[in-house]
Amino acid sequence: MKEKIATLLQEVEHFKAENAAQIEEFRIHYMGKKGVVQALFADFKEVAAEERKAMGMLLNELKNKVQEKLDAAKNEASASSQTKEHQLDLSLPAATHVGGRHPLSVVRNEINSIFARIGFSISEGPEIEDDFHNFTALNFPEEHPARDMQDTFFIRKNPDVALRTHTSSVQVRVMESGKLPIRIVAPGRVFRNEAISARAHCIFHQVEGLYIDKDVSFADLKQTLYYFAQELFGNETKTRFRPSYFPFTEPSAEMDVSCKICGGSGCNICKYSGWVEILGCGMVDPNVLEACGIDSKVYTGYAFGMGIERITMLKYQVNDLRLFFENDVRFLRQFESA
Ligand code: PHE
Repeated sequence: MKEKIATLLQEVEHFKAENAAQIEEFRIHYMGKKGVVQALFADFKEVAAEERKAMGMLLNELKNKVQEKLDAAKNEASASSQTKEHQLDLSLPAATHVGGRHPLSVVRNEINSIFARIGFSISEGPEIEDDFHNFTALNFPEEHPARDMQDTFFIRKNPDVALRTHTSSVQVRVMESGKLPIRIVAPGRVFRNEAISARAHCIFHQVEGLYIDKDVSFADLKQTLYYFAQELFGNETKTRFRPSYFPFTEPSAEMDVSCKICGGSGCNICKYSGWVEILGCGMVDPNVLEACGIDSKVYTGYAFGMGIERITMLKYQVNDLRLFFENDVRFLRQFESA
């Protein structure tokens, strides 16, 4: 019996199952009711008393070995059936191409976050506006050329309704709401009836800003926009303000930044001036404050507005604005890591 168990141990040791059926066969052969192990236990009764202890240990060893083999074979089978059936390989990359944000969104988000860092929150408003919010409240005289059909898309049947030409209309809505002080940026899509070219489009995007509180000065405006230009274009960026005109601000200015491409020495991007214009700004005209129900004797404020397309073109040296709207993936893919 001793030799028999020793041979069986060897046999079990060398057992290798190739499929579930073989495992089951192995189990029945050894562990079944009429199986090898059971039979040995029956024989065990005949074993002489002095050999019982040693034989009992051997028999248990065999039984445990068979169980061990069975467990291992089952584990292996279930692991391999998983990969075979589901072809599950968790180490594979999730996707080969994940895409990226549109360059205009990248730059808009960057502008928003620069202003968010100094306490500006975001306001949005409707793209379809009425004359009051787009023009009248902003101190556009009745006969002002910007109201002309040339620049504005009006609804033919109702000239009081138009597509907004700037997001200043959002600023009017925020001022009307009556909560002061105000410190907001208004990003959004705007519309102007212009011929499409490399430098202009009838649909484009703006971020405008508005700050209204007691004692807001032109110095505050300059410092805020100086900080903004440095954050957006880099610390070496210089700014300059030139007098300008907008109906809704007095005084008004345009801000130039030193040309990022040539560093100010002159190139075709800055038309050899060393400067490029990036935004319009000024102190909110008291007429605008009053039209929106704000006491202009107590409150002052500044406003500014910029075109996202123009800033993106400067930042990434894009020379044709139409590229932003054509959705050519060869163009868009260049901004994937931006
Ligand atoms: N609303 C102006 C425009 O669309 C920009 C601007 C905003 C200028 C605020 C000055 C102050 O051109």
